[in-house]
Amino acid sequence: MPSHASTIVVLGTGGTIAGVAARADDHVGYQAGQLGAQVLVDAVPALAERVARGEALIEAETLARLDSCDMDHGTWLALRARAEALLARPEVAGLVVTHGTDTLEETAFFLHRTLAADKPVVLTAAMRPATAPSADGPQNLLDAVTVASLPGARGVLVVFGGRIFGGADLRKVHGYRVEAFHAGDAGVIGDVVDGQVRCYRPWPTAPLHAAAASLLPADAWPVVDIVMSHAGARGEVIDALVAAGARGIVIAGTGNGSVHRALVEAARRAEAAGVIVRRASRCQLGGVVGSRPDSLPSAGELTAPQARIELMLDLMVARP
Ligand code: SIN
Repeated sequence: MPSHASTIVVLGTGGTIAGVAARADDHVGYQAGQLGAQVLVDAVPALAERVARGEALIEAETLARLDSCDMDHGTWLALRARAEALLARPEVAGLVVTHGTDTLEETAFFLHRTLAADKPVVLTAAMRPATAPSADGPQNLLDAVTVASLPGARGVLVVFGGRIFGGADLRKVHGYRVEAFHAGDAGVIGDVVDGQVRCYRPWPTAPLHAAAASLLPADAWPVVDIVMSHAGARGEVIDALVAAGARGIVIAGTGNGSVHRALVEAARRAEAAGVIVRRASRCQLGGVVGSRPDSLPSAGELTAPQARIELMLDLMVARP
């Protein structure tokens, strides 16, 4: 093995990419998060070939085996801490994190805001379980390793379906199709075509959130909940969340962040009780543009789940 070979560490957290179905043609009735990271790496012969040619060293670690709908703040902290330790190793060129698609955008955003990624941290996933005849996981993993190995690449990225997304730009827009993700108005950073990376814009370099310097343990994170505005919405939902200890509430408003008047009234009661309220859009694309003097504070371009993470971080910094 040549001494210049760079190490890529694949960290497994679960998801459909590690999912197993009882029948090979079952694309939806499977169990996510069954296979460990080493099994996923071993399923991609092209990765073994790269190692054999001395182009890379690949380590695999299984951090969690979650269906990502069950993702939690403790796992985020463990993932961030492990990523930080691995990135500090000089021979590590980049990381790949395998993950479920359902909360991929949340984990990507959390890492984007809190992890100093001078090297690439590439999340990837799959819409079809590892047992499917046309599983998309192996190609996505191969492409993710390609990007993680790329000299000069940096930041929290998502590689999926041959596309490179910024960690803050990803939105899941389809529940079961293989083309499940959108890069929002930012557009993709680049493509991976036949093992070659084509970039259309710079790697993400946004500053970290101030809370990244001293994240609280998971059981001390401020409670922030999301409420959706819809026809017939009830303010009692917000009242109940405040009574249950919410310190922040994100309202996923309709359209450009408009909010049912019953929720606005309840949000004003919440604000009077010291709860921070932000207004996002339940639309996946576009965010909230502009503001009216009488409207609740806007979450801007952030989706509601992103706004929830941002508000938790804000509240960690603002703690008394
Ligand atoms: C999950 O998010 O863990 C299951 C669904 C998926 O990965 O597509």
